[in-house]
Amino acid sequence: MPITDSIGVGLISVGWMGRLHSRAYLATRQFYPELARHPELVIAADPDEAGRSYAENNVGYRETTSDYREVLAHPDVDVVSICSPNFLHHEVALAAIAAGKHFWIEKPMGRSARESREIAQGAEAAGLITSVGFNYRHAPAVAEARRLIRSGALGTITNVQIRLITSYASDPTQGFTWRYETEFAGSGVLGDVLSHGFDLAQFLIGRISSINAITETFITDRPLPDGSTRAVENEDYAAVLARFDNGAVGMLESTRVAIGPNAEYTIEVYGTKGSLRWNFDQMNQLEVAEDVRGYRTVMTDTSFGDFGRFQPNAGPGIGFNDLKTIEAALFLRSVAEGKQLAPSAADGWSASELVDASISSAASGAWVDLPEVTGPTTFRA
Ligand SMILES: NC(=O)c1ccc[n+]([C@@H]2O[C@H](COP(=O)([O-])OP(=O)(O)OC[C@H]3O[C@@H](n4cnc5c(N)ncnc54)[C@H](O)[C@@H]3O)[C@@H](O)[C@H]2O)c1
Repeated sequence: MPITDSIGVGLISVGWMGRLHSRAYLATRQFYPELARHPELVIAADPDEAGRSYAENNVGYRETTSDYREVLAHPDVDVVSICSPNFLHHEVALAAIAAGKHFWIEKPMGRSARESREIAQGAEAAGLITSVGFNYRHAPAVAEARRLIRSGALGTITNVQIRLITSYASDPTQGFTWRYETEFAGSGVLGDVLSHGFDLAQFLIGRISSINAITETFITDRPLPDGSTRAVENEDYAAVLARFDNGAVGMLESTRVAIGPNAEYTIEVYGTKGSLRWNFDQMNQLEVAEDVRGYRTVMTDTSFGDFGRFQPNAGPGIGFNDLKTIEAALFLRSVAEGKQLAPSAADGWSASELVDASISSAASGAWVDLPEVTGPTTFRA
């Protein structure tokens, strides 16, 4: 397929995610050759010189700047990736909306439901395409799980369990950073990690209508460079009971301070005719039970989601970075077709409502009803 045109990419923040978004854009040319417009890396912003140098010399951005506003004002930039720390998401997204740029933003979209609502409603009013970094839903095995659930192969879905167990904050001697401060991070593990779980739950099962949560902070103080300590302001752990609109019920759990599991992200779905389960640790496998004899392990193959873009058959698997390539392609296709196919800002807003509802339920002990969000959400698609 001939390449008819290019689409100009601006990047805001060249950290882990900014580098990965860039790699993913570049990879779409190889893995999604039919895209009408292929990304051209135009300009990247980061106050850190090392980030700017990496963007220019190692990734291939034409220009760099320390001021993200120059990215949004650049005439060759059509789409923007917002990969900044959480405390900049709202400010930068609203500026992208004002500049009329479609954007792909990392999770958690806002630090609060209010921030996320303002981003989602602003983007929708401006007629912009959005994408939120809910990468796990792009795993081919998760796409297949959704297909099986929607086909009725598992019968009526009765219950679901989603757990995201990580260790990244398990070292109590690790210094205090913005991640532990509500002003800069918003919530703790709820927004940082369980927002993926909320998205997966709604992507697979449907809208969550009410929740009841508990939260805990196990490592209450963290060291500052001067040897003193500072109190951690957000939660290390959350457990959430959920009711879905369609009658299903579920449990979601996440910790950032487990010792051992680094990214044990598991989904279990139970229905009246069968069950399935998936673990990110073995992301190229799906376990499916279609009768009481138990699970059979199915290797991800070309019939699962976008797996065939990356590998010719089951066996050689795909990895985390490939999920971002799938996400980039979905965003670019959404922009090309003027149709929201990628996880939307409305999905990001809905996940934020679940985070805020969990915090409020943990404080009161009460069940909390989730407000309806507007815009193109996955659970209405
Ligand atoms: N989808 C996922 O699975 C996933 C994984 C990791 C992180 N994230 C999210 O991505 C976002 C970034 O996380 P990260 O791990 O890439 O962080 P990082 O610390 O690796 O990078 C952050 C970058 O932002 C830059 N920055 C700071 N102030 C800035 C400013 N004023 N303007 C522009 N850039 C600025 C820093 O210099 C740094 O290069 C966070 O919101 C995080 O939650 C998502």
